[in-house]
Amino acid sequence: MVRQSLINEAADFIRQGGLVAFPTETVYGLGADALNARAVAAVYALKERPAFDPLIVHISDPAMMQLYSTEKDERLELLARHFWPGPLTLVVKRNKVIPDIVSSGLDSVGMRMPANDIALRLIDAANTPLAAPSANKFGKLSPTRAEHVRKQFPELRYILDGGGTRIGIESTVVTLDEEGFIIIRPGAITTAQLEKILPPSSNKIIDKIGSVSPGMMKSHYSPDKHLYILGESQIPADTTKAALLSMTNQNPTNYKIVEVLSATADPDEIAVNLFGALHRLEEAEVDFIVAEKIEESGLGIAIMDRIRKAAWRHQYT
Ligand code: TXA
Ligand code: MG
Repeated sequence: MVRQSLINEAADFIRQGGLVAFPTETVYGLGADALNARAVAAVYALKERPAFDPLIVHISDPAMMQLYSTEKDERLELLARHFWPGPLTLVVKRNKVIPDIVSSGLDSVGMRMPANDIALRLIDAANTPLAAPSANKFGKLSPTRAEHVRKQFPELRYILDGGGTRIGIESTVVTLDEEGFIIIRPGAITTAQLEKILPPSSNKIIDKIGSVSPGMMKSHYSPDKHLYILGESQIPADTTKAALLSMTNQNPTNYKIVEVLSATADPDEIAVNLFGALHRLEEAEVDFIVAEKIEESGLGIAIMDRIRKAAWRHQYT
C-alpha cells in the first residue's frame, strides 16, 4: 500500500515540474505534468529518448480526453467505455492544450486511463494529466517492479512502489481511420478483443519501421546480453553458460539457468513474467539468452513482438 500522504507529496512534486515514477497495470511509468513542456523535456532527457518518439498522456477519467482532443468519434467513446481503465492507448487528434513536445510535434496524442489505483490517485492529486513513457532508459528493458526503475534511475526522488505489475506488457496503441482501427503497437489488449467492440472491417497492424510509431522500431526492448530465438536464429552450440527463457515445463538440462515464464505456455502468465526474467538474466552470469517461441496469436503477438525487439540488433547488426 502506498500512503495517500506520499501520493500527495509526489503530486506536489509533479506540479512543481518534477518527475515521479509510478506503477500502472502494464509497466511502471516515468511521469511529468503533461501540460508543462519543461517537465516533459526533462523526461526525454532523463530517459535519453529521441525527441521524435511521442509520449502517452495518462488520464484518470475518460471525460478528460475531450479536454485535450478535438476529435469526436463514437467509436472512440465505445473503446474508452469498454477498455478504460485498462491497457489501451488511443491516438487521437491533439488540441493545443497539450504542448508539442509531448507528442513530438505530431498533430495527434496518445491517451490512456491506466487500471492502477496508485496511478489514478496520483493523477487526481496532481490534478493534471501525466505524460509518461515506460520508466526505463531508451532501448532498455521495461520495468515491471519498482526495483527495476531504481536500478535504471537511482536519482529519482519518488518511485511509488505498487509491487509487480499485473499485466507485465505495455498497452496496445491504436488509432482509427475511416475504415477501422489500426494497431500501432501490439500490446495487452488483443485484436480479437478490439474486434468484439469494433467490427473487423480493415483492421491492420502497422509494420513499417518507425513510420507511424517509433514504438515499432525494430530494436527497442534490449537486455544487455545477446538474445536468440529458438528455431529462428543460429544458436551457439555450447549453451552450458547460457540461459533459456522457457514457455513450457520440458526443461532441457544443458543450460546454466532456465527461467520458466509459464509451465503451460499460458500467454497471460508469460506476459507477467517476461520483463522480470529478462531483468534477472541481465544481472546473471550467463553469456547469452535463448528464448523459446510461442504461437503468434492473441497476446502471443505482443509477447513475440517484445522478444523479437530484444533479439533484433543481435541478429541483424
Ligand atoms: O503500457 C504503456 O503504454 C506504458 C505505461 C507506462 O502506460 N507506457 C509506454 O510508453 O509503454 P512508451 O513511451 O514506452 O511507449 C509509448 C508508445 C511509443 O511506441 C510511442 O511511439 C507510441 O506509444 N505513441 C505515443 N503517442 C503516439 C502518437 N501520437 N502517435 C503514434 N504513436 C504514439
Ligand atoms: Mg517503452
